Amino acid sequence: MNVLVTGGSGFIGSNLVRLILTERPDWRIVNLDKLTYAGNAENLADLEGYARYRFVRGDICNGELLADVFQTERIDAVMHLAAESHVDRSILAPSVFIETNVRGTQVLLEAAREFRVKRFLHVSTDEVYGSLGPTGLFTEKTPLDPSSPYSASKAASDLLALAYAHTFEVPVVVTRCSNNYGPYQFPEKLIPLMIANAIRDLPLPVYGDGMNVRDWIHVEDHCRGLLAALEEGADGEVYNLGASSERHNLEIVKQVLRLVGKPETLIDFVKDRPGHDRRYAIDSTKARAKLAWAPRHRFEEALAATVRWYVDHRPWWERIISGEYVKYYERQY
Ligand code: NAD
Ligand code: DAU
Repeated sequence: MNVLVTGGSGFIGSNLVRLILTERPDWRIVNLDKLTYAGNAENLADLEGYARYRFVRGDICNGELLADVFQTERIDAVMHLAAESHVDRSILAPSVFIETNVRGTQVLLEAAREFRVKRFLHVSTDEVYGSLGPTGLFTEKTPLDPSSPYSASKAASDLLALAYAHTFEVPVVVTRCSNNYGPYQFPEKLIPLMIANAIRDLPLPVYGDGMNVRDWIHVEDHCRGLLAALEEGADGEVYNLGASSERHNLEIVKQVLRLVGKPETLIDFVKDRPGHDRRYAIDSTKARAKLAWAPRHRFEEALAATVRWYVDHRPWWERIISGEYVKYYERQY
């Protein structure tokens, strides 16, 4: 099977590529990635020259390039992760979120339709549901109510994918996952940012009162869920993925400080994110029942392992913060 992974050089994509190459020895992966600021070719540098892996630097908005890749690589299935993914950036500069997440997804869906792929897995997010009050969970039937330009662009692409299933019978499956953490996450997101700042004795910026709640899942559990959805999901269906690990942001920040061995005086309460969603929490009963999938990692242990990974891989995130990582792909591609 030839699988096109879009956004394979990002956080979840690079973890997914590794998992598939290990767990599915007869699959071949083509990773199409534009290498934006969030794409880091170093994440998969050791796979260069590997027979079952090919990297193509390119934009999902480029229909001609997509046609060439689908044809020459005989793509059977698509796992679509490429996106602008950071909420704060979408508040500062929304346009590229519409271009990549909405238009790019539609261009990719057209190619999948034209070349009759057997499966199109659209990787969506729980943020499409908007914000919860103190109780309740998102189910697949919760109405979409996105709050930020990021989540609105993801809701648009999620609905476009389902529309292509409904109207053109493209074999689409949509997953909506909660907040990921783990190795190779870009240090602009809460957990890696807090770890990197704690290690360097820099302030840890907590938005608002720090009482916003996110529902955390280890990236490997998410990737296993994506694989299960690709193989076991039904056409036109949506599956929520989550690990039932709700935590306040402040609790996470304090845990990170404890794990790094730094004082809570580093916590810095800063201005809140505009339109900040208060609480996310996922009901993943359907995925657990229909996809024979369940998360394996427990939050406290996996957070400790994640902190250790960032401590051990300091050069990886320091090259990102300094901008040095960009030079790697300028040399390579
Ligand atoms: P990321 O920002 O780490 O990686 C995104 C990747 O997409 C990068 O490698 C980037 O270079 C690439 N990309 C961006 N624009 C592109 C374009 N126009 N053409 C080709 N490649 C392009 O993101 P992530 O956190 O790994 O998220 C991956 C996907 O999973 C996204 O679709 C995101 O919405 C979704 N998701 C993320 C989370 C999370 O907690 N991180 C949770 C649920 C869903
Ligand atoms: O829920 C899934 C989503 O999770 C994904 O779709 C997004 O791609 C991913 O970025 C993530 O979005 P969040 O906005 O929830 O993640 P972020 O790490 O940016 O923030 C997590 C929480 O921490 C949120 O309540 C904002 C807060 N925060 C974040 C940062 C970066 C802070 O308090 N301080 C910070 O510096």
